[in-house]
Amino acid sequence: MPFNTALTRALGIKVPVVQGGMQWVGYAELASAVSNAGGLGILTALTQPTPEDLRKEIRRCRSMTDKPFGVNLTLLPALHPPDYPAYARVILEEGIRIVETAGNSPGPVIKQLKAANPPCIILHKCTTIRHAQSAVKLGVDFLSIDGFECAGHVGESDITNFILLSKARQTLGVPFIASGGFADGQGLAAALSLGAEGINMGTRFMCTAEAPIHQKIKEAIVQAQETDTELVLRRWKNTSRLFRNKVATEAVKVERESTTGKFEEVAPFVSGKRGRQVFLNGDKDYGVWTAGQVIGLIHDIPTCDELVKRIEREAVETLSKATSLITDEVPQQEIAGKKMPDTNAEATSEHGRVGENVNNPEAQTLRYGNFEFSASGYDC
Ligand SMILES: Cc1cc2nc3c(=O)[nH]c(=O)nc-3n(C[C@H](O)[C@H](O)[C@H](O)COP(=O)(O)O)c2cc1C
Repeated sequence: MPFNTALTRALGIKVPVVQGGMQWVGYAELASAVSNAGGLGILTALTQPTPEDLRKEIRRCRSMTDKPFGVNLTLLPALHPPDYPAYARVILEEGIRIVETAGNSPGPVIKQLKAANPPCIILHKCTTIRHAQSAVKLGVDFLSIDGFECAGHVGESDITNFILLSKARQTLGVPFIASGGFADGQGLAAALSLGAEGINMGTRFMCTAEAPIHQKIKEAIVQAQETDTELVLRRWKNTSRLFRNKVATEAVKVERESTTGKFEEVAPFVSGKRGRQVFLNGDKDYGVWTAGQVIGLIHDIPTCDELVKRIEREAVETLSKATSLITDEVPQQEIAGKKMPDTNAEATSEHGRVGENVNNPEAQTLRYGNFEFSASGYDC
């Protein structure tokens, strides 16, 4: 059942679910599988060592799907930054017209992508309303609002999606999608209810049959709880949410205990090269790797098609159920399927009418399921 939202209309997709850019994960296998399933798959530009490699990857992806897909371009501070304009040029030359941007100072790249004919549709990912407002001024088409739950760069304000999404709805005036903490159709329904036009998922798509990473890492995600992530690099205002493993725990320890505060002390622990090896060798403790709190909601390794269909079905059921909660008549009072006693009748206990015998404190006590209420509070 197709969803009619600003996102599905703009991108020409059936289900308002985007697979966010993922370093070392966002290859053609995953992006094409998500797009074939009715969502939007996204290749990760910087996973390709050069712009020309990105060109090859875009062509490979196009050979695997005839559906729309996009490219993620992440602009992170670096001593020797990648040639962003060259990556953007290849994106345009290869006919890609959907780009997810993320990171610092996206202005020049957005300008370049918007100057194309036809211009790119830009989904800009950010973790604060302030950054979202700046991106709106740059002319982005959608904001991808990434809550504190998310995998990777969580920002420094620690605002979770319940607040962030409503704040986006109240303030932005540009359509937005919800990112961070989504894994199922109930989540999609909640996001739509809060005013989003769809959802963006990273970690959930990492744990699918087509994600080109080692099976053991997918199994580690299935076994993990929502508490199994670690925030690193806060001290340098570059906070990242990572899977909690031996290296991430050690990195946090060094970060906390360092007396010099020099990044060089923690750098060996957060090496991207070792993180990449994790996805290839399946040793979850070999280096640090990115994952969101949503790992606690992931219990299987479906194909992208199974996952997107399931999300679609759950969202439809959830939204229909929500609609059925609204009735014309005041419902019959009940608890756990049992009719409740008349609440207008006087409450009594074995000591008589409650509240009547002020000298007997027990008479002020009412039992309600496992809870015992008294004038002074309640106990389980
Ligand atoms: C392994 C991994 C790598 C990621 N790499 C990037 C990246 O290179 N650029 C980016 O913009 N976001 C990156 N992200 C973030 C995702 O695009 C997405 O915003 C995030 O995963 C959403 O939170 P969720 O994991 O709770 O769904 C990455 C996420 C994961 C799990």
